Amino acid sequence: MIAIHELVKQYGRFTAVDGISLDVRPGEIHGFLGPNGAGKTTTLRMIAGLLKPTSGRIVVNNHDMAAAPEAAKGSLGFIPDRPFIYEKLTAGEFLRFHGGLYGLNGNGIGERVHEMLDLFELRRWEDELVESFSHGMKQRLVMAAAFLHRPNAVAVDEPMVGLDPRGARLIKDVFRRMSERGVAILMSTHTLEVAQEMCHRISIILKGRIIAQGTVDEVKQLAGGGDDHLTEVFLKLTGGSSLQEIDEIV
Ligand SMILES: Nc1ncnc2c1ncn2[C@@H]1O[C@H](COP(=O)(O)OP(=O)(O)OP(=O)(O)O)[C@@H](O)[C@H]1O
Ligand SMILES: [Mg+2]
Repeated sequence: MIAIHELVKQYGRFTAVDGISLDVRPGEIHGFLGPNGAGKTTTLRMIAGLLKPTSGRIVVNNHDMAAAPEAAKGSLGFIPDRPFIYEKLTAGEFLRFHGGLYGLNGNGIGERVHEMLDLFELRRWEDELVESFSHGMKQRLVMAAAFLHRPNAVAVDEPMVGLDPRGARLIKDVFRRMSERGVAILMSTHTLEVAQEMCHRISIILKGRIIAQGTVDEVKQLAGGGDDHLTEVFLKLTGGSSLQEIDEIV
């Protein structure tokens, strides 16, 4: 599970995250939607323990991030939007190194690394340097690393960007299976089709605040557009240029 309560992040006078509360229950895929600059990445980085909140509380799998950061971080899988990978490692070395950071070692690690390379269709590339990987291959490698230690909670920042249809399908299937096994997944995305298709609940964030939360149907009702496509609902809630306004300019 992931629970955040009244989370705030200020950069100087600017408040990037302004009192966000949300719960991701075991087995839930929770979509984190919002326009550019709304505060999604900032929130996810705080949940991952990479950024210190100005105030508020974060609990991951019953571990309080402030009181027990190692236990909280150790039970989470985090996939950043712009991952850093040591380019001079091979895929296999990277995964074994990453596993070591999470206390995986001994005989088990080799087998687990192979399982993940197989799952993410990277086994052929085990001994190739990461610097030769395409974007999608790097993305799949980062996922393999994040799931290596079997986390019960996952925070992921825009996982579908730049993946080919096969890669996107694979990631969706992996997330679905993990959720069926009780893993809590918080996923930011701009792909509303993905949110509609996969998320049990969504939170829409605007200027650091949650402006709508619930199932996709509940959020549509809230916006007064029960039959609208989620994109229309999203634009209605977050404000976007109308076709008429665009017509007047172009
Ligand atoms: N280190 C920083 N210093 C100052 N402001 C920052 C910093 N990091 C983020 N911000 C600001 O916080 C706000 C939220 O940024 P954030 O990256 O969380 O948005 P986002 O919802 O992830 O957007 P996107 O959809 O574009 O990824 C933005 O206005 C950004 O400029
Ligand atoms: Mg972001």
